[in-house]
Amino acid sequence: MNKIKLNNNYEMPIIGLGTWRSKPEDAYKAVLVALEKGYRHIDTAAVYGNEEMIGKAIFDSQVKREDLFITTKVWNTDQGYENTLKAFSESIKKLGVDYVDLYLIHWFKGYENSLSTYKALEDLYRQGKVKAIGVCNYNVHHLQHLLDNVEIKPMVNQVETHVTLQNHFLHDFCKANNIQLEAYAPLMSRKIDELLTNETLNEIANKYNKTVPQIAIRWLIERGIVVIPKSVTPERIESNFDVFDFTLSKEDMDKIRKINTGRKLFPEMDNIDF
Ligand SMILES: NC(=O)c1ccc[n+]([C@@H]2O[C@H](COP(=O)([O-])OP(=O)(O)OC[C@H]3O[C@@H](n4cnc5c(N)ncnc54)[C@H](OP(=O)(O)O)[C@@H]3O)[C@@H](O)[C@H]2O)c1
Repeated sequence: MNKIKLNNNYEMPIIGLGTWRSKPEDAYKAVLVALEKGYRHIDTAAVYGNEEMIGKAIFDSQVKREDLFITTKVWNTDQGYENTLKAFSESIKKLGVDYVDLYLIHWFKGYENSLSTYKALEDLYRQGKVKAIGVCNYNVHHLQHLLDNVEIKPMVNQVETHVTLQNHFLHDFCKANNIQLEAYAPLMSRKIDELLTNETLNEIANKYNKTVPQIAIRWLIERGIVVIPKSVTPERIESNFDVFDFTLSKEDMDKIRKINTGRKLFPEMDNIDF
């Protein structure tokens, strides 16, 4: 499976299974299916409430721990140095693992919180309890503030990214600073119907004999962006992963670029109150 190297040389599979809004029992089944179909990367978060069942699925799958890439995140109400360390202990206990591959700050909650929370991530990283660290929902100015003040550069920034919110400027900034961009909501999440009915994407999908979600996922992979489509439906889990037997032409990449509207489906990163 395709992997990318993070700025500390740790390898991350370019595609993973998203699990937000996957109820614990569904997440259990989805992870088992995903691992059987070849996924090795699972994205969860403390706030998703499914870490325990994901841990059980990982254990029951019998896939070797070192072959897996597990991401979890510290939730907003647990930010700050001490709280983050505590939240991390709870997460690994629920997941039944002694380290996670990637630990992320879930949302930007002000500059002070950003630094104190990130300091906990740096210490966990130094102790080997996390193999890589990073953030979610950070824009250029949030990232710049981190870069100016921390010792270990973030390895990943996970943000909403899809065909109508393409994030070219943020992506360029991340590339220039060796931060891997990771796309959440790659299928437009609750607005997936807009993606499925998009005319340009349907034309391109017909041309390659692929589905629209496969085109949307492949387009992110072609841009070197890590992608974590969520599904609890076995056939979709399988087909979302079946994106390594074709490449999109430059002409088709350009056509998709034109779909960009810049409209965000998730809250503005500077204005969250949760
Ligand atoms: N860091 C953050 O703040 C943040 C925020 C949001 C999401 N995330 C992460 O990113 C992951 C992905 O984002 P997301 O869950 O919001 O949205 P998404 O992956 O863009 O879309 C998921 C939706 O698409 C459906 N779907 C999946 N594959 C499909 C296919 N091939 N055909 C038709 N429908 C399909 C799923 O339905 P079924 O499940 O019913 O199949 C679900 O309703 C999350 O699960 C989570 O792990 C992170």
